[in-house]
Amino acid sequence: MKIIIVYTSKTGTTERIARELSRRFSAEMIKVEPKVPYGGFVAAVARVAKEKARNEQAACGTPYRDFSGYDAVFVGFPLWAGDVPTYMQDFLQNSILGGTIVVPFASSAFEGIGRAEKTVKMICPGAKVENPFASNPRTVNRFPAWLTHLEKQYR
Ligand SMILES: Cc1cc2nc3c(=O)[nH]c(=O)nc-3n(C[C@H](O)[C@H](O)[C@H](O)COP(=O)(O)O)c2cc1C
Repeated sequence: MKIIIVYTSKTGTTERIARELSRRFSAEMIKVEPKVPYGGFVAAVARVAKEKARNEQAACGTPYRDFSGYDAVFVGFPLWAGDVPTYMQDFLQNSILGGTIVVPFASSAFEGIGRAEKTVKMICPGAKVENPFASNPRTVNRFPAWLTHLEKQYR
């Protein structure tokens, strides 16, 4: 299968998962960046809270892409306010995913991927969203099984 890893990461945790996926699937990686950087942890938390209160979407600084030539797109992000960072939403919403398979993966402090999965389904209508996983201290023991499952399904 032709697979690509599209991810964003502020402090490197999601990037480590992206790299592992890239290695296992020999897949190309694209890193998505916000147009305006979020700064340190405190500044980022404050800005994310403000965006949420105002229902604002930040812009991404990475050119939109056409992924219609891929069989599956693995989409990775840290959970911010329990959801997909809004600049990543901007990127996904304006890139072409068509009917491709989308596998959302996240890293988080504690939260599950439920809300982010709903968001991905909403902003990628037509895509087949499956096998979502959020890695955090509670779920990290399930990470190897998730990887094995992906390898069986997509390799
Ligand atoms: C602005 C901001 C908001 C966050 N919000 C949440 C949250 O709502 N729930 C959660 O479990 N973790 C939250 N976190 C923690 C990150 O999801 C977690 O540290 C993640 O592994 C970071 O991934 P990264 O290193 O790829 O950026 C937040 C972190 C930041 C910086």
